[in-house]
Amino acid sequence: MSLVAVDKVSFGYTASRPILDAVSLDIAPGDTIGLVGESGSGKTTLLRLLLGLATPDSGTIHFDGSPLDPRNGAFMRQFRRQAQVVFQDPYSSLDPRQTIFSIIAEPLRSLRLAGDHAAMVAQALEAVGLTPDAATRYPHQFSGGQRQRIAIARAIVPGPRLLLADEAVSALDLTTKVRVVELLARLSASMSLLFVSHDIGVVAALCRRIVILEQGRIVEAGDTATVLANPRHPYTQRLLASVPRLTLNEAST
Ligand SMILES: Nc1ncnc2c1ncn2[C@@H]1O[C@H](COP(=O)(O)OP(=O)(O)OP(=O)(O)O)[C@@H](O)[C@H]1O
Ligand SMILES: [Mg+2]
Repeated sequence: MSLVAVDKVSFGYTASRPILDAVSLDIAPGDTIGLVGESGSGKTTLLRLLLGLATPDSGTIHFDGSPLDPRNGAFMRQFRRQAQVVFQDPYSSLDPRQTIFSIIAEPLRSLRLAGDHAAMVAQALEAVGLTPDAATRYPHQFSGGQRQRIAIARAIVPGPRLLLADEAVSALDLTTKVRVVELLARLSASMSLLFVSHDIGVVAALCRRIVILEQGRIVEAGDTATVLANPRHPYTQRLLASVPRLTLNEAST
């Protein structure tokens, strides 16, 4: 059974302009999926729907066999523990006035999870490759890559089954990006990962499957290596064609 089943979901922020159009997507337990598409194609919007932060105009989203229903408080509390998200910006996503311990323990508090929070935070820090003494420090004492590790620790501390990453490595330099991608690859052994990125290279390295979104529609989806080797949709071909040009531009600056 799918962990997440998105079935013909349509959504618009206003009635006049649809942002997602009959999107269907299954996420199996342990799946790693790269969600790729131009700016404005609806990637973040789809994540918001998957998190229950917005409700589809039509179509359904099921999590672990049950419909995502914001009115079902008991289910949503269970769900919030099991689906976590990491965003792009490692600078704005951590409260500068809180210690790292307090930041990482926040989901445990807000979800009122039982257990030894100190031990759970220590375990999450270790999982992302930070030393225990990080717990007493503040966000400004860490680099961008370390902050992103802290954001990932916060996301994994409640033991989610689904991790959504929205451009989670885009703001990082190349070396740091590689390290954080390696971390996500390790974590994906124990949870499903939906990874939004403009970076096809990173998606190719990390994701078994790829989903291409164009103006709110899935135009192509499949095994990453297969789609990248043989893109069938013109939009995918254009996206891939733009990759070497970007590399050239970077090399010439
Ligand atoms: N809160 C909002 N209210 C109204 N329109 C919005 C809102 N958020 C996003 N949109 C519009 O929805 C469309 C899709 O936006 P979305 O943020 O999902 O795109 P995206 O694929 O994540 O883009 P990017 O790669 O730039 O992050 C855009 O046209 C955007 O302007
Ligand atoms: Mg976005």
